[in-house]
Amino acid sequence: MSYPSSISPIRWENNRLILLDQRYLPLKHDDYVCATLEQAAQGIADLVVRGAPAIGITAAYAVYLGYQQHKQNVNYDFTAALEGLINARPTAVNLAWAVEQQKALLNTDQADLSQQLLDNAKRIHQQDLDDNIKMGDFGANLIDSGSRVVTHCNAGALATAGYGTALGVIRSAWSEEKLDQIFASETRPWLQGLRLTAWELAEDKIPVTVIVEGAVSSLFNRKKIDWVIVGSDRICANGDVINKVGTCNQAIMARHYGVKVMVAAPTSTIDMNTQSGDLVDIENRSDSEILAQNYPDNELVSAWNPVFDVTPAALVSAIVTEKGVVLQPDKDKMLALMSSK
Ligand code: MRU
Repeated sequence: MSYPSSISPIRWENNRLILLDQRYLPLKHDDYVCATLEQAAQGIADLVVRGAPAIGITAAYAVYLGYQQHKQNVNYDFTAALEGLINARPTAVNLAWAVEQQKALLNTDQADLSQQLLDNAKRIHQQDLDDNIKMGDFGANLIDSGSRVVTHCNAGALATAGYGTALGVIRSAWSEEKLDQIFASETRPWLQGLRLTAWELAEDKIPVTVIVEGAVSSLFNRKKIDWVIVGSDRICANGDVINKVGTCNQAIMARHYGVKVMVAAPTSTIDMNTQSGDLVDIENRSDSEILAQNYPDNELVSAWNPVFDVTPAALVSAIVTEKGVVLQPDKDKMLALMSSK
């Protein structure tokens, strides 16, 4: 049973792409307006919009904007612009996936190509919302009544077209009155769990308890947690899951304490061309995100800031997609899922 969200992180209005600026939530609710492909790519790089499916949807609209620039200016290097867009963030495969979907149209040379690119972006946008609602139902079916769950980062309405992958499952399970308590880990250093997940659940009248990442093993030890429920930025052909750094820590601790791990992601996040997680380019972001203002000009203090990690398939209990559920994922089961109609 779905539990609609009031939050729309991406809007298409008056031929402009409007992103809810996630850098300042929950304290400020600003819009970031993109009239060009470059503005959208910068918004992705700066985390104005983040979360794998939301990045993909933004990129689909950005290709349309870039095509308008290309038509208006013969000197505009559209090929380089598309390359820059794909490279705005390296890890979430939905970005390249969405650009490829649009490129397939670009290669067709049709008279109404502009309209087709825009319609395709709108279709990708709507499809994501529909898929999230399906995943919500599939995932909620795996959850028993009275369960306690923890989620990491933000895989909610803000990270998608508007319902969420992991938070979509949590919304659906909540509407079926199956959840006793929902925990969100704060997600250092960018605080997606604290600033985004807690905010969007509270906006939709769903109670949530925030913990620091260091409290996860205590949580499993003391609170009898049933599920870790997360989204993903890329799932490899063997079922390895790339998600926000800290996900693998939770999965390892979950195994120790007998907690199950659910990964909810659309099939656009599954990358059958990458065999395993060790082959994925893991984004490293600026050390200033960790050090903040604490060490101006101190060359002896640096920070290492990989923002995703790899959870081996063996630690995952279920992958939930819009096409169905894969229990204890492995290479053969992933192939069967992706080959199914
Ligand atoms: O760096 P972010 O905020 O883009 O990372 C997002 C995540 O890791 C999410 O958990 C993941 O994209 C799933 S979003 C439905």
